[in-house]
Amino acid sequence: MSEFVKGLEGIVAAQTEMSYINGEKGVLEYVGIPIGELSAHSTFEETVFLLWNRRLPTKGELAEFTGNLRDRYSMPDGIASRVTSVPKTAEPMHVLRTMISALGMHDTDPNANDADNARAKCLNILGQAPAMVAAFDRHRRGLPVIEPDTSLTFAENFLYMLNGEKPTETMARAFDICMILHADHGLNNSTFAARVVISTLSDVYSALTAAVGSLRGPLHGGANEGVMKMLNEVPSVDAVEDHVMGMLKRKDKIMGFGHRVYKAKDPRAKDLQGLAEQLAKDTGNEDLFAKSHAIEKIMEREVAAKGIYPNVDFYSATTYHCIGLQLDLFTPMFALSRLAGWSGHILEQLDGNRLFRPTADYIGPHAVAYTPIEKR
Ligand code: ACO
Repeated sequence: MSEFVKGLEGIVAAQTEMSYINGEKGVLEYVGIPIGELSAHSTFEETVFLLWNRRLPTKGELAEFTGNLRDRYSMPDGIASRVTSVPKTAEPMHVLRTMISALGMHDTDPNANDADNARAKCLNILGQAPAMVAAFDRHRRGLPVIEPDTSLTFAENFLYMLNGEKPTETMARAFDICMILHADHGLNNSTFAARVVISTLSDVYSALTAAVGSLRGPLHGGANEGVMKMLNEVPSVDAVEDHVMGMLKRKDKIMGFGHRVYKAKDPRAKDLQGLAEQLAKDTGNEDLFAKSHAIEKIMEREVAAKGIYPNVDFYSATTYHCIGLQLDLFTPMFALSRLAGWSGHILEQLDGNRLFRPTADYIGPHAVAYTPIEKR
């Protein structure tokens, strides 16, 4: 019998051709292309094509893929009416999770898991998910829902549906870069959840619903909201030192730091740091960036020796805030992007599937006599 490894650390449970991570050196590649190259030169749409096809598209292929995605920007009526009938106090991640699940009921053949059908369902969900989040946010703010605009990119269209006006080029590009950076990341918890569910030959909707549920936890994608809450709690740059040292003394986790795989600075955090700094300048949020930077410096001094560095969530908080997103939309933004990676992993899992079924090490008693209820 093999050894119990808490949290499955270091266990190889799947093979993937999508993303490669070297945690010691702080390297992330999608299909061999360094993440920094993609964030500098690619678009989210092209990155999704890359992940799903394991190669960059030609001009024609990209136009076709983008067109197909745009054709799916609208929610079916049944979903649109559901989104605007949920309680306004609901958490957007709960709404997204529930609506992806509900979408399965609008599919006349939800269990078709052959490669073409599974891919079409993934594309459908990726296309529609931004409308779900944007429509819910407008509903809770008492604003009319904005229909998608198929002349816009994935990033532009989301910000348009959310704000009712087209984003500036800078904001749209910043958001697009965030989408590229979050699109895939090996066998992280939510991706594993998606692969586990689809390995039963369940369905794409169920697998993606599980993934959204996993991502929202504060130890995973929910950390970006935790970072922002922490930044809001610290009144000024001068107060950072006492605040962070107090948290470390109490052994509180500093959100946005540490990673199961990276023992160096997460390369996505490097990209997001630059983006956050620029956006903070452009939007008058210099203080927010200065607080983040001060936290990083203290963490470098105090805990870097343990291999704890900023992860993707640390500077994404400042970035999303500067883009103008509400705090509880931060994790849904991560989900919109990661739908690409989850979907790619679902397709990989279905291609040569074997049911996930690990074992548990039973550590309870044996041969215990049954005690009748009146004698307990
Ligand atoms: N702040 C302070 N100390 C930390 C942090 C942190 N953020 N992260 C880890 N440590 C310390 C732990 O206290 C522990 O110290 P000890 O050995 O003295 O007890 C040591 O580093 C190892 O930490 P573990 O929690 O065992 O590491 P694990 O690999 O299980 O956890 C995790 C990784 C969950 C990401 C952790 O670092 C954490 O909770 N970080 C904060 C939440 C966060 O930012 N999550 C997002 C991760 S990226 C993503 O999922 C998108």
